[in-house]
Amino acid sequence: MAEGKTTLSVIKADVGSIGGHIKPSQRLLDRVAEFIEQEGRGLLTDSFISHTGDDIAILMAHNRGTDDEDIHRLAWDAFLAGTETAKEQGLYGAGQDLLKDAFSGNIKGMGPAVAELEFVERPNEPFLFFAADKTDPGAYNLPLYLAFADPMHNTGLMLSPSMSEGFQFTIMDVTHTEGDRIIELNAPEDLYDITALLRDNERFVVESIHSRTNMEECVSVATSRLSLIAGRYTGKDDPVMLIRTQGAFPATGEILSPFRLGHYVAGYMRGSHTGPLMPVKQNSSISFFDGPPIVSCAAFCVHHGKFTEAADAFDHPFWDHVRDHVSQKAIEIRTQGFSGVAMLPYSELEYGGIVERLGKLDTKFKVR
Ligand code: F6R
Ligand code: MG
Ligand code: MG
Repeated sequence: MAEGKTTLSVIKADVGSIGGHIKPSQRLLDRVAEFIEQEGRGLLTDSFISHTGDDIAILMAHNRGTDDEDIHRLAWDAFLAGTETAKEQGLYGAGQDLLKDAFSGNIKGMGPAVAELEFVERPNEPFLFFAADKTDPGAYNLPLYLAFADPMHNTGLMLSPSMSEGFQFTIMDVTHTEGDRIIELNAPEDLYDITALLRDNERFVVESIHSRTNMEECVSVATSRLSLIAGRYTGKDDPVMLIRTQGAFPATGEILSPFRLGHYVAGYMRGSHTGPLMPVKQNSSISFFDGPPIVSCAAFCVHHGKFTEAADAFDHPFWDHVRDHVSQKAIEIRTQGFSGVAMLPYSELEYGGIVERLGKLDTKFKVR
């Protein structure tokens, strides 16, 4: 922890939902909020609870730095308290993302997704909190690349002297579970290296981005892959992300711009399909084919560790038009059912059943 710094921590988990993997109950949300309100006193300067699909996100401001044991424990305990409520109500998948029995100092690797940023507050400090459901952390690769490295979406890269140096991407190989295997690459010089990695959303994931003008961190993405922690299917990772905007960083609208693409990502039904990422309003639920994959964005300013109210970045008539387009893309890819790119490659299928099935079939093959 450094004097005079603010830390933003967002920790999210699916600890139970109504009617399948659709959305948490109001009682569950209230329980988590009440726990944070009571137990976070003296620890947090502010907090904000929301849900995106079946995931509850606890956004916290404090001055204890990233990876703080007490902050992580607070979120873990809030999700445990929520799990009790989920069990009382008979919610589906109660406690599903809490993969370990006992808290061990840092919530990373225990199931819940974490993104954190620590910085000295500017006199005005706008930031965005993204939460996605029914997809994995690689879903943010393309939007981040386009917002931080491509003048087709971020014309500020040409116009703003404070962005002219470009940005440094820290990219993680998420298949390496024995430690954080990372590489740092610079935009614009290393663009082709960056895209060579980021095309593979299931393996290489943007973990953070720094401004090369002031070397400050402006993006933090939750990179955990649940199946790699548990060694079996436990739900998709449903990543959260924090982004500081304006000034030396892209404008809020430049960050939002690539989300109009509704690009195809991994996830959707049973975490085993390809579907377009739909930008939705805060507290949206899940529907068609357990999807489509969704992303929400709440915009804030933080001042002396206190949040303004949230502005819902995807609640605007423009995004209704985008949602119609993305719905069409969702229908389009579903027209080919199980075939080819509509489903993920074998290595990414989230259910073991097909492995057994193919194993049995393998013994029946003959070589003619
Ligand atoms: C995908 C997801 C859902 C479930 C599906 C089956 O991330 O959460 O699509 O995979 O509803 O759920 P289970 O296996 O719980 O019956
Ligand atoms: Mg779920
Ligand atoms: Mg979820």
